[in-house]
Amino acid sequence: MPEEVFLSPQKKGRIAVFLSGRGSNFVAIHDAIVAGKINAEIVLVFSNKKEAPGLEIAKERYLETLYFKPKEFPTREDYDEAIIQEIKKRDVDLICLAGYMKILTPLFCNTFKNRVINIHPALLPSFPGLHVQQKAIDWGVRYSGATVHFVTAEVDQGPIILQAAVPVLQDDTEETLSERILKQEHQIYPEAVKLYFEGRLEIMGRRVLIR
Ligand code: GRF
Repeated sequence: MPEEVFLSPQKKGRIAVFLSGRGSNFVAIHDAIVAGKINAEIVLVFSNKKEAPGLEIAKERYLETLYFKPKEFPTREDYDEAIIQEIKKRDVDLICLAGYMKILTPLFCNTFKNRVINIHPALLPSFPGLHVQQKAIDWGVRYSGATVHFVTAEVDQGPIILQAAVPVLQDDTEETLSERILKQEHQIYPEAVKLYFEGRLEIMGRRVLIR
């Protein structure tokens, strides 16, 4: 069977950002949009955490925000189904996970295939999961970094869009390395969103070609 090929749309994009925490990647994307570097608008900022600082920042920026309390839904599928409805209502083109600390169900990932991207603070496929900056230090790698990738039902395994390498220094702590990686995240995440709506990302199997 021939490999399935996907080409990202060239259009003014409608973005939903999902976050659970401070939201610095959300801010980087929004700043790039406001500066006219990305042909898109953020139509929703969603969180599973009521107190997420990123939600407050979104409100200050007059963006629509939404919070659903996970405990109010009997199953993870019910929770994601409720979000799916909200996303569909707003005609969202792309969902940017920016520190969203809840694993999306296969239902969600399949509903929005090729339309969900994530930023991860390591060079995937090395160090998937959590606390990966500390894991990179403990393993003794000389380089770690950041990865923007498409989201599939297999956590941290979707096709890679962009990566930036960051040296791991001998006296690095989790904090210093995280800070250095985060600077790169703020560069490559907006860049990946820009490429997406320029219609330049082509997924061929596991690989993403940049047109
Ligand atoms: C970032 O390190 C990102 O790579 C990871 O979660 C963190 C989110 O940070 N997925 P922020 O909320 O965007 O500041």
